Amino acid sequence: MPSSSIRRAGADDVSLVRSLRLEALLDAPYAYGSTHAVEAAMDEAAWTSSIFNKGAWFIGTHEGLSAGIVQLTLEPYVAEHHLWAIFGMWVSPVARGTGLTALLLEACATEATTAGAHLVGLWVTAGNDRAATAYARNGFGEVAPQRFGIDHEGPERFMVRTLP
Ligand SMILES: CC(C)(COP(=O)(O)OP(=O)(O)OC[C@H]1O[C@@H](n2cnc3c(N)ncnc32)[C@H](O)[C@@H]1OP(=O)(O)O)[C@@H](O)C(=O)NCCC(=O)NCCS
Repeated sequence: MPSSSIRRAGADDVSLVRSLRLEALLDAPYAYGSTHAVEAAMDEAAWTSSIFNKGAWFIGTHEGLSAGIVQLTLEPYVAEHHLWAIFGMWVSPVARGTGLTALLLEACATEATTAGAHLVGLWVTAGNDRAATAYARNGFGEVAPQRFGIDHEGPERFMVRTLP
């Protein structure tokens, strides 16, 4: 039986999260609002302050391997709607279809709920249908970003999940 687990990254995990993030940017350049070239050019201190410290990272482990990451904002992204945002979701190709994505999203939802969120939201590049399907399977529905006071630019879909 495959085994998966999730933990919140701590200060000791910067190098690990950075290497998974760089792998994600190489593997799926269409999926993120950043590039491998930009983030690989930052030294670890610069990357830590501008990327790692922007939110809480969760690391997914599958069959003993670090195989997924996701980031949740530390504060409301749209305060008036108690909406927290999720960024940077990536699951390694070897761990796709195993349920690790659901566990990563659940970790974000639990953390956001504890922080007082009523909603979690994320952006999906138009055409990234595998991601949109995975999110829909995990309780996210597509909504107009303007409904949440978010400026929307580019070919992205905004999806949101209501928390308990
Ligand atoms: C997006 C991602 C995290 C999803 O994780 P995953 O493990 O692949 O997702 P799952 O297998 O749990 O779910 C994918 C669903 O899409 C379906 N699917 C697969 N390919 C598809 C496609 N081309 N179009 C539509 N649906 C597709 C699968 O059948 C599955 O649906 P099901 O649960 O009803 O069977 C992962 O694929 C990934 O890291 N991709 C690259 C980075 C990325 O796109 N990140 C998202 C940023 S918003």
